[in-house]
Amino acid sequence: MEKIRVQCVKNGPYEVQGTLTIVDANGKIVSSSESTTYYLCRCGGSGTKPMCDGTHGRIRFQSE
Ligand code: FES
Repeated sequence: MEKIRVQCVKNGPYEVQGTLTIVDANGKIVSSSESTTYYLCRCGGSGTKPMCDGTHGRIRFQSE
C-alpha cells in the first residue's frame, strides 16, 4: 500500500506528499505524478483550485 502524507501548513495550504492523482469535480485529472509534493488550498481563496496560489498570504488566512 502506498503512503500519502498530508500536513496542514500553519496559516497556509495542505502539504500533500506521495504518489497521487488529483481529480476535479467532473472527474478530469488535474495532476498526476510519481512521488512529489503538492500544496492544496484550504483557505478557499485560490484562483487555481485545488492548488494553492499564495492567496492565503494576501488574505491573511489564519489556521493552525
Ligand atoms: S491556502 Fe494558499 S491559496 Fe488557499
